[in-house]
Amino acid sequence: MSGLENVIAAETRLSDVDGERGRLVIAGHDVEAIAGRLPFEAAAALLLGENPERFAIDLGAARRKAFEALPALGDALDRAEAMDALRAATGHLSSHATRAEVIAAIAVHAGAWASLQAGRAPRPPDPEAGHAADLLAMIRGRPAAADEVAALDAYLVTVIDHGMNASTFAARVVASTGSDLVSAIVAAIGALKGPLHGGAPGPVLDMLDGIGTATNAEAWIEQALARKQRIMGMGHRIYRVRDPRAAVLERTIMRLQPTPRLELARAVERCAEQILAKRHPDRPLKANVEFYTAVLLEALQIPRGLFTGVFGVARSAGWCAHVAEHAATGRLIRPASRYIGPSPVPNEAGARG
Ligand code: COA
Repeated sequence: MSGLENVIAAETRLSDVDGERGRLVIAGHDVEAIAGRLPFEAAAALLLGENPERFAIDLGAARRKAFEALPALGDALDRAEAMDALRAATGHLSSHATRAEVIAAIAVHAGAWASLQAGRAPRPPDPEAGHAADLLAMIRGRPAAADEVAALDAYLVTVIDHGMNASTFAARVVASTGSDLVSAIVAAIGALKGPLHGGAPGPVLDMLDGIGTATNAEAWIEQALARKQRIMGMGHRIYRVRDPRAAVLERTIMRLQPTPRLELARAVERCAEQILAKRHPDRPLKANVEFYTAVLLEALQIPRGLFTGVFGVARSAGWCAHVAEHAATGRLIRPASRYIGPSPVPNEAGARG
C-alpha cells in the first residue's frame, strides 16, 4: 500500500506495461518492433507527436545550443556523481526551454561530464549526426563504429518510456501543479538516481566483478542475501516474468563483438533466479532491464558512473511526453494520506486560545 501498487494514477497513450505477459507497448508498438529499427529521435518524435524529420533537426540544433551554454553552467558538471551533475546542469536550463532543448541538453551534459571526468575538454556535438552517434562520440571523445551506434540507439529506444515508473510519476506530479517542464525533469532526474529505480546497472557490474567466474555465483549470491542485500538487476514491481527489455538488450549485445561478460551475466542470472525462486516461491523475481543494461553499456565503453545518466538521456523523451500529456488534463495530482500520529490532547486548542 505504501508503494501505491496497482493504483491507476493516470490514463496515458504513451506506453503500457503488461507485467503478467511480459509485454511493453510504446506509442502503439511492441518494444521489440521499434528497438533496433527506429533511431532514438524517431521514437521520441512518436511519443511527442512531432514530425520525425523536423524533430531530428531541432534536436541536432539544440545539442549545439546546449554545448554553447556549457560555460554558463559554472561548476555544475564538476560533481563526482553523474546524476548530481545532470540534476544541477538541468536546473540551469531556462524554464521556457523546449522539449528538444531539454532532451538535447541532458545528452550534451552527459557527454561533457564524461569528458571532464576523463580529463578531456568536452567534444562539440555534430548537429547533423544521429542522437545516439553524437552522444557516444561526446562520451568517448571520438566517433564510434556503426554497430556500436546501432546498439546504443537500440538501448535508448528500449528504455525511452515505461508506464508510471517512479521518475515519470515524479515528473507528472510536478507538471500537475502547473509548474514548468524543466522543474518536472529535475524532479524526474532525482527519482531516477535511486538504486531501486535507475541506479541499479552500475551495482550490477560491481556484482559481476565481485563474482568473477560463474562457479562463484551461488556462494556470492547466498552471502549477499544473508547480509540482507538485494540482488541488483533482479525483480520488478510490475513484471512477474522476465522483463521483455532484458531480452531485447541481450540480443543487442549479441550483435556486438563477443564479450565474456555476457556468458558470466547469463550464468549469474540463472543462478540468481533459482536462488530467489527458492526464497520467494510466490513472488517471481527475474532479471529486469538493468541487468543487461550493465553489460551493454560496458561493452560500449560508457563509464560505469554514467550508466544511470545514459538511462536519463533516453527517458527524458518519455518524461517530456508525460509532462505534456498530464499538463493537458489540467488536473492536480494530490493523493490523500491516513493519519497514524497521536491524537491531540482534549481541549488543547481551547486552552491555548
Ligand atoms: N533481491 C533480493 N530480494 C528481492 C529482490 C532482489 N532484487 N527484489 C525483491 N526482493 C524480495 C524483497 O526483499 C521482498 O522480500 P520479503 O517479502 O521477504 O520482504 C520480496 O522480494 C518482495 O519485494 P518488494 O520489495 O515488495 O518488491 P517491489 O515491487 O517493491 O520491488 C524492486 C521492486 C525493483 C524495487 C526490487 O525488485 C529491487 O529492489 N530490485 C533490485 C534493484 C533493481 O534492480 N532495480 C531496478 C528496477 S528496474
